Amino acid sequence: MKIAIARGDGIGPEIMEAVLKIFAANKVPLEYEFVDMGKWVFDKGFSNGMTPEAKITIENLGILFKGPMETPKGKGVKSVNVTARKTWNTYANKRVFQTLHGVDTVFSKGGIPIDITIVRENIEDTYGGIEHMLTHDVALSRRFITRPGSLQVIKYAFEMAKKKNAKRITCGHKANIMKITDGLFLECFYEVAEEYPELKADDVIIDDLCMKLVTRPDTFDVIVLTNLQGDIVSDLCAGLIGGLGFAPSANIGDHICIFEAVHGTAPDIAGKNIANPTALLLSGITMLRHLGYMQNAAVIENALLFTLESGVHTGDFGDKKIPSVNTSQFTETIISNFGKAPVQGAKPVLPNMPATPTSFKLEKNPVIVTEEMEQEKIVGVDLFIESVEQPEMVAHMCQRHAGEKFKLINISNRGTQVWPTGSIYTNLVNQYNARFESLDGSPLHQQDVISLYVSLSGDFKICSLELLNTWGDKRAYSLAQGQ
Ligand code: NAI
Repeated sequence: MKIAIARGDGIGPEIMEAVLKIFAANKVPLEYEFVDMGKWVFDKGFSNGMTPEAKITIENLGILFKGPMETPKGKGVKSVNVTARKTWNTYANKRVFQTLHGVDTVFSKGGIPIDITIVRENIEDTYGGIEHMLTHDVALSRRFITRPGSLQVIKYAFEMAKKKNAKRITCGHKANIMKITDGLFLECFYEVAEEYPELKADDVIIDDLCMKLVTRPDTFDVIVLTNLQGDIVSDLCAGLIGGLGFAPSANIGDHICIFEAVHGTAPDIAGKNIANPTALLLSGITMLRHLGYMQNAAVIENALLFTLESGVHTGDFGDKKIPSVNTSQFTETIISNFGKAPVQGAKPVLPNMPATPTSFKLEKNPVIVTEEMEQEKIVGVDLFIESVEQPEMVAHMCQRHAGEKFKLINISNRGTQVWPTGSIYTNLVNQYNARFESLDGSPLHQQDVISLYVSLSGDFKICSLELLNTWGDKRAYSLAQGQ
């Protein structure tokens, strides 16, 4: 089987070389096609960080094994890592965090075992990166949480939890505040849970989850989260088991899968031959199992675990009384330990399975719609307008435009109601949301909304608008704080 490899930036080439050396020594039956992705490809003028040839190769082969890649900070180009995950719909990001003997942490010293699998939604949420400055003072990020996107990742999480005989699957969320977006994710979680009665499914609010992960990490098994919350909680979990140097990551899709370490390019230690290749090696081991190379995976993993258990370490971890080794020496030690197994946590050496076919061609972009729409009605509109006037004056000006179809319901500023009632102590910025609803409750048409928009634009700059819809009896929008 042939897979695509991108060496990455910073420490990427060094740790990739280490892993491929270990694979070669273990006679892993894989061929590689190296592709051009990363910071240096941006620098050559390819705005998405990969060459057209790299894209074609990855789409043909279906598996990408990649080193970390640098995202230039601030304005301009988007992260090639995020672009790759989103473009190829690798919707589930699986990250396994296990106690590694030889990697001391407060938990390992306290005899508290950790074995947590995070499944992070990988393509939606604020990672859409859909951001606008609405006024010179007000920035907006759009956060998409969709039913098909949530169901895809949650189904993967339950199926994976069942296969690994998990004792518990937990949904982390903030649905108490983000009732519509996180509320939808949570609703999908319990919908899927009904199909897996054998699994104990529960949910924990994200802040409480962070506290419980630090105080009782041993009580968690599989945790499924939205993208941003999953990203943050993953790094918290990496901290529980000794740091980012030990955290592997698999980006799973139906057609293309990407395997990589959780950590970044570590520019501070790049080119020094001192980086820890463990996370990338663990990601490679996950990839081998995904492809059916069970025996190679187990032999390499046991050699790695034996190496860690025997106290051999790179400079970023381990017993400071034992001198550290460099990346090359660490790699050679793992190779010399093939056939050995750790005292604790040894993996069973199972025979290889026939390699699973990877990518297959699609004729057109799949459109996923999960359910028939209930009767949808437009009942109003939120118009986001720029103004430095006081709420009373904004309301007075808005009411002049309400006409025969609309009434002004309320005005809010950053989500807090400031009219018809509010507090003098609420700070204001130069953008209000004027909420208009149908005057007599009858359904509205888009044309009515456009007429209101045109009229209101005589007095205000309108930065953005959102329709207020109902589906059957259900309100498909949130109330302002204090409404
Ligand atoms: P980082 O993970 O590169 O580094 C954080 C700290 O951990 C540094 O002190 C670094 O030396 C250390 N570290 C990381 N990996 C290590 C390893 N294998 N061995 C020893 N020490 C290690 O995070 P940072 O500095 O925030 O990001 C640097 C660049 O990496 C940024 O451009 C960022 O966008 C990119 N990045 C790429 C990722 C990917 O390709 N999937 C993921 C995260 C960041």
